[in-house]
Amino acid sequence: MQKSIWQPQCRQSSEANVIILSTRIAASDKLSQSGIHHVNMTDVESVKGTSGSINSNPVGQMFDHIAPAYDILNHLFSFGWDFSWRRKLADAVDKNEKLRVLDLATGTGDVLISLLRRNSNIAEAVGLDISENMLALCRRKIARYKLTDRVSLVRADVATSGLDDESFDVVTMGFGIRNTPDAFKTLTEIHRLLKQGGTALILEFSMPANRILRGCYLFYLRFFVLLLGRLLSGDNQAYRYLDQSIENFHCADDFCRLMQKAGFSNISTKPLTFGVACLYQATRPDESND
Ligand SMILES: C[S@@+](CC[C@H](N)C(=O)[O-])C[C@H]1O[C@@H](n2cnc3c(N)ncnc32)[C@H](O)[C@@H]1O
Repeated sequence: MQKSIWQPQCRQSSEANVIILSTRIAASDKLSQSGIHHVNMTDVESVKGTSGSINSNPVGQMFDHIAPAYDILNHLFSFGWDFSWRRKLADAVDKNEKLRVLDLATGTGDVLISLLRRNSNIAEAVGLDISENMLALCRRKIARYKLTDRVSLVRADVATSGLDDESFDVVTMGFGIRNTPDAFKTLTEIHRLLKQGGTALILEFSMPANRILRGCYLFYLRFFVLLLGRLLSGDNQAYRYLDQSIENFHCADDFCRLMQKAGFSNISTKPLTFGVACLYQATRPDESND
């Protein structure tokens, strides 16, 4: 599939609450300088604000519940395509510079792992998620892949992470932005966290443009995914939510417009696997070049 550069088609119109789960045993000065505080590998600690609103976030609770089945259902429902989608995201990262990367909604860590394994120039990566159980699985995987020394995990809500302005070269988010209550606010946050000239890479489900394919896909989501998700995860609501969140999410053009409104430039889209997913790439403009 070709990457297409998005052109606008019409005129454009805290308090931090963060819990850190570090995969590193040794404290890192670099991270504490940038607002991320390390705790021991097995500790979970609220370092700013209270953990109350993180623990009571309904989406976080839902992911806590389905975490043990998440990976297997993810691969099953996407027929394994999700591996190649994450690889495409990882391959879009600049290979020439030493990078500091943030993966939002990191979940069980598949985007993070793909990024690190395919980009040896990533010196430091932070994975952030609201779900404690998803992060626990992520931490184990990171250890299994022997990537512990390059990764820190942060438990926080994307909206109130308290991470420093302009502190990352690349910010990624795989299948996460759909789950946040306000996609525009999340994009604004990504923009804030990126250094000037930095890159945002967002992977998200989308609807195929072809009507017949779209019909088949909706049938698949509404019946097959719902039934199997219910049976295998034991959660009645989670896979109904998955279907509804996909159906209700912005179309690619709307989402690009939202990215532009949040301050991004050089926006491009890459539809994946008949358009059931889309990779968005955009730059935070470098104001010194103005
Ligand atoms: C569909 S999973 C995606 C996980 C991973 N990126 C992947 O590609 O498999 C969505 C993740 O977003 C996290 N999430 C949802 N809302 C969040 C929020 N407000 N702040 C941080 N993480 C959030 C969930 O806990 C979950 O792990």
